[in-house]
Amino acid sequence: MDPADADADTIVVPIRAGAPLTEGLPDDVVAMAATHSGKPGAVEVLPRPTQRPSKVLLVGAGEGASGWRAAGAGLARSTARTASVTVALPTAEDPDIRAFAEGVLLGSYRFRLAGPRADGPPELTEVLLAGPADEAALAAARATAAATTLARDLTNMPSDVKTPQWFAERVTEAAAAYPGLTVSVRDPEQLAAEGFGGILAVGGGSSRGPRLVEMSWAPEGASQHVVLVGKGITFDTGGISIKPRDSMKLMRKDMGGAAAIIAATIGAAALDLPVRITALAPLAENMVSGSAYRPGDVIRHWGGRTSESNNSDAEGRLVLADALAYAVARLEPDLIVDLATLTGANAVALGKRTAALFSDNDALVKALSDAAADAGEQVWRMPLTTDYRDFLSSEVADLSSVTSEGGAGAVMAALYLAEFTGPLRDRWAHIDMSAPSWVDSDSSELTKGATGWGVRTLLRWLANF
Ligand code: BES
Ligand code: MN
Ligand code: ZN
Repeated sequence: MDPADADADTIVVPIRAGAPLTEGLPDDVVAMAATHSGKPGAVEVLPRPTQRPSKVLLVGAGEGASGWRAAGAGLARSTARTASVTVALPTAEDPDIRAFAEGVLLGSYRFRLAGPRADGPPELTEVLLAGPADEAALAAARATAAATTLARDLTNMPSDVKTPQWFAERVTEAAAAYPGLTVSVRDPEQLAAEGFGGILAVGGGSSRGPRLVEMSWAPEGASQHVVLVGKGITFDTGGISIKPRDSMKLMRKDMGGAAAIIAATIGAAALDLPVRITALAPLAENMVSGSAYRPGDVIRHWGGRTSESNNSDAEGRLVLADALAYAVARLEPDLIVDLATLTGANAVALGKRTAALFSDNDALVKALSDAAADAGEQVWRMPLTTDYRDFLSSEVADLSSVTSEGGAGAVMAALYLAEFTGPLRDRWAHIDMSAPSWVDSDSSELTKGATGWGVRTLLRWLANF
């Protein structure tokens, strides 16, 4: 293209480290580009009131996918008063353009309960790409951003609205757009009839009963069956082992794992990925009431194993245990991956941005880690230290949900879950994404609040089957 002739009023010029600028740019734009810091995501504005285009945004696009992602997010955040921009893409096609598109779409995310503000400045609504762009990469970006947006919306929703039933209804509605997706929702009566004792115990203290969502994507010709499990606690007070005020404040996000695995499954359908997926979202509200479960209760999980629950705040593992046991016995998965906002210890070990990945399967760890790196999400492998298994022993049940020994909270939770994976133990991965499920302020493609962590990683991983 010749950007100088473009119809658009505002042109975006990405500056890639070590790569030539788009050809055909006006001299003043080239001169300005030479002074740009090159910092990924940094935007510098060149007003040209008497010329076309009348405004040029020079945006640092660094190197690789991460540079493009930062550029997209920087653009999304900088375009106040500009509703439409045209991006002058480099002349050679670049598969990393997916990261740019995801950066734009996710950096523009806003959660609003009451619709857009009428009095605000115009928001960026249109990003036109001029130049060679890989259409498949852009389609993947759109589906990934839409799925991540769904996960963020579900996770940001306040818990007065977000009951287990509400979550089940919203995701059933979202799935209805794809004929290949089927959804079944078990209510408390069905959960009781089938013996989902962990979900019922945790959900028992709430007037708004638990649910189990089972979503299936089964494309013809798929040779592999992946089961995704996600923790869906719609609010975690801690129950009778009640949380202190500050720790409870954000616990509407405690269903971020369920949101991510459901949204990724819908995204897989949108992209028509040739892999069979069953997503299981055990949903419950962990409340304090006369019907709440008590510390010391012995819970009978789906399939018959029992847990002594000595701390009602360790509720996530109890609902996941039911779902894992059911998946292993009934769904014949090739691989199982669970995502859960499971422990505060995730952040203690790895800080605010990195999820903890547990698996005995090196190939699965590598595949998930590679997908995360490509997605711009961070995971770090942690050990399933078998020596610690003894700390989970109980005198009254098959195992104890928490240990009296201090330390290694994320590891102990993972070891507990491992007990429910039976013969699939080495085809299972657990991801504790408590920490990166939320950000306190805008940062690149993440906007304050729920991040939708995991959707981007899962969709890249699922595309490789
Ligand atoms: N939902 C919390 C974990 C959590 C903490 C998520 C902070 C996000 C931010 C989980 O149910 C929980 O309460 N875990 C306990 C486990 C303990 C009782 C063994 C924890 O981490 O303290
Ligand atoms: Mn808890
Ligand atoms: Zn929880």
